[in-house]
Amino acid sequence: MNSTLHAKLETEIKKLDSISTAPAILMPLLDILRLPSEKIKVEKVVELISYDGSIAAQCLRLANSPLYGRRQTETVRSAVMALGLERIRSMLFGLCVNRVVPKDKWVIEPDAFWRHSLGCALVTQRMAKKIEYPEPEKAYLAGLLHDLGFLVNSVLYTEDFRECLRRAADQQVALHVIEEQVLGFTHCETGQMLCEHWGLSKELVDAARCHHDVSLLPAAGPLACLVHLSDLLCRVRYLGYGYEEVIAVDLGGDVAWQTLVTTYPALENMDLVRFTLDIDGAMEQIVATVDSVFGGKRIAAPATS
Ligand SMILES: [Fe+2]
Ligand SMILES: [Fe+2]
Repeated sequence: MNSTLHAKLETEIKKLDSISTAPAILMPLLDILRLPSEKIKVEKVVELISYDGSIAAQCLRLANSPLYGRRQTETVRSAVMALGLERIRSMLFGLCVNRVVPKDKWVIEPDAFWRHSLGCALVTQRMAKKIEYPEPEKAYLAGLLHDLGFLVNSVLYTEDFRECLRRAADQQVALHVIEEQVLGFTHCETGQMLCEHWGLSKELVDAARCHHDVSLLPAAGPLACLVHLSDLLCRVRYLGYGYEEVIAVDLGGDVAWQTLVTTYPALENMDLVRFTLDIDGAMEQIVATVDSVFGGKRIAAPATS
């Protein structure tokens, strides 16, 4: 991307704040997100959630989903307790930014976008625990937010972006490849800019930036690598953007996996077949959770123009 385009996009991304319909609780939540988890006050979170009926309903739905034992959770407070503060703040953030895109600017079903993001969040967290990454909840957040650029492109370049989706579906290739041809930039780049604009941590910015190509950074961190791998796993398991890609996942041969091995040498001896099977087993539960949040709809094909 040349510097003129970069500057233009930066200016436009700043305007997103005024054209979006993000709920009033977004900014206070962003403030909470920046705090270390031990400093977050449960009562403040319960209060913020209670301000917004649909977000409160989503929290209850998730707390009552099979992944959390289908407890009979009927109050926001007990939902927060059942889900845990880290998970609730990640999920809340996702639900809030969902509203950044006005209804007429979605190029796919919003549910499909969030199913992919939530699926990726859950798989990233699962993988993080498997490799004993010390902050699995942060991994969840990185997975949840990795495709924020999709929202930026939907709002700012709706028709061109719709065309990208259509061509990617026709050619069965990854979206970022077509974005580069049609727009001259990718959702990875606009995602990076939005993360920076919102003051998110460098690890989250990096995960957004290089989740389709970890070699973009001289030393991609574990989060970026984990998000890259779980994004691939989601896309080959019906949690992509509603079209089939010709794509093969070879975890051990992936540069992201090899980068992870340099940080976690114990991975070298890991039984990859078992690891993949374990993620596959979890995937079923993950799809069930995602469906329980979004009402059980499978991903619709992208709208064609
Ligand atoms: Fe992506
Ligand atoms: Fe993705």
